[in-house]
Amino acid sequence: MRISGSAAARLKELGVELRPGVLLAEKTSLGIGGTTDLLLLRRAESIPEVMRLLANEKIAHKFLGGGTNVLIDDGELPWVALHLPSSQPGMRVEGNTAYVEASADLGGTVTFCAKRDLGGMEGLIGVPGSVGGALRMNAGAYGTQIGTHVREVELYRAARGEIDTLRGGDIRFDYRHTSFSPDDVMLRVKLELPSKPFTEILAGIRVCNEKRRASQPLNQKSAGCIFKNPPGGSAGRMIDDLKLKGHRVGDAMVSDRHANFFVNAGRASCRDMLKLIDEVRERVYGAYGIELENEVIVWQN
Ligand code: EPU
Repeated sequence: MRISGSAAARLKELGVELRPGVLLAEKTSLGIGGTTDLLLLRRAESIPEVMRLLANEKIAHKFLGGGTNVLIDDGELPWVALHLPSSQPGMRVEGNTAYVEASADLGGTVTFCAKRDLGGMEGLIGVPGSVGGALRMNAGAYGTQIGTHVREVELYRAARGEIDTLRGGDIRFDYRHTSFSPDDVMLRVKLELPSKPFTEILAGIRVCNEKRRASQPLNQKSAGCIFKNPPGGSAGRMIDDLKLKGHRVGDAMVSDRHANFFVNAGRASCRDMLKLIDEVRERVYGAYGIELENEVIVWQN
């Protein structure tokens, strides 16, 4: 979708940088995604006004975070992509509290806090993406989940059209699911982290990195795990047991390293990836009677 004329001029006045015709495949870890205008929101405070403008002009939109857990449709997209660019360093620490912008890199945040002797997030070190995306999905790995440490979140609440602050205790953080509304936009978070000597945190980080390197296809284009684990089970093990590693539709392929990672082994399209997801889901359902739920967020036209 393209923005021009008075809407483009008004957006510029609101501090929005408009990048026309961006190929979103270049903004996602899967390397999949069509073309649209990208709006960089350089001033989070202007979001309510930007959103009013887009609504008045009937310009459909989606918020793109780190692009690491999303599968975007091919071709010309019927919506514009909004993105909060990260500012440096985007975080600070006071005592046991870390104040972090949602656009900050999650791994960078773990390291920043570790260097200030604040731990608890070691498991999240290799999870790619932004802090905002991690909050929305309650990202987790190796026994850590970000929700445990959240004390406050500042966010744009689309339903009310305003910026609001929620206390950690008022937010539900479940397995890869939160009580945020799908159109809420994360802006900043206050995390409370336990004190730990840097060397100890570093040792924990190294263990997680090694485990991840040994079991996940880190040097291939993927969106992490495609499916959530069913209660008490492992999607990766079920897909592996069905001998589906290496199974492909075009260039979309079940990783031969970890069966719940689907990789773009070349020039995979969204259509290929969706077909692969459907085929694997059906095979698992046929064998185990379990319907796997997507972990990856799909933006289909
Ligand atoms: N397994 C297989 N074959 C495979 C993959 C896994 O047999 O191809 C077996 C493993 O041997 C293990 C079990 O399945 O016994 C679980 O595997 P793993 O430890 O790799 O964990 P997972 O449940 O597959 C989850 C998260 C990952 C996270 C790891 C480490 C989900 C959907 N996935 O994977 O998160 O990194 O634990 O904590 O919850 C993500 O969210 O994108 C993600 C990658």
